[in-house]
Amino acid sequence: MKIFLDSANLEEVRKLVDIGICDGVTTNPTLVAKQGEDFKSVVTQIARIVRGPVSAEVVATEFAGMMAEAKVLAALDPNVVIKLPLTPEGLKVCGALSAANIKTNVTLCFQASQALLAAKVGATYISPFVGRLDDVSADGMQVVRDIRSIYDRYGFKTQILAASIRHPAHVVEAALAGADVVTAPFATIMQLFKHPLTDKGLDAFLADWQASGQKSILG
Ligand code: G3P
Repeated sequence: MKIFLDSANLEEVRKLVDIGICDGVTTNPTLVAKQGEDFKSVVTQIARIVRGPVSAEVVATEFAGMMAEAKVLAALDPNVVIKLPLTPEGLKVCGALSAANIKTNVTLCFQASQALLAAKVGATYISPFVGRLDDVSADGMQVVRDIRSIYDRYGFKTQILAASIRHPAHVVEAALAGADVVTAPFATIMQLFKHPLTDKGLDAFLADWQASGQKSILG
């Protein structure tokens, strides 16, 4: 399962790439607005840092406008994936881009029926929003499981990109549910490393090493 960073912050992208656990990046208009920088410049810079897909979302809502924006965004870098809303027009654009071999990420998916339609028009990724479903007392991860069953049953190649991930357990549950990718905020990805017993155990090992009077490993 791939891990994408859900962020438009260059520093966060750099840090995860440096650790070696960033398979790609997803952005959305809200994340871009938070940075207060030029959208196209941010996407171009992210694509230079990470060796993997970088999702950039259109903001037009009708076919011609989305197509025009998609072409501009796709020209920024070969790794740019065009993020499209799950509307009839968005899926029409998705079909046209798929036919032109341009990668797509269909976003704002909240039920399996929507994911079925996205797969039928050849979406590269479908993004079910797990956390936002949980927020309204629905079972976000069940939608991921349902999409997995449908895609496997009919052999759809669209990859399930679990989004709106809020905590480390979501990441593990998405992996168990068979998501192909999880995209999560920087803080959530860093939480994946953490366990109090890891810190406690390391402290104890280092204390015992000091107490033993061993020479430096470096000689
Ligand atoms: O990028 C889409 C998604 O991950 C948004 O997450 O936390 O705003 O629901 P959130």
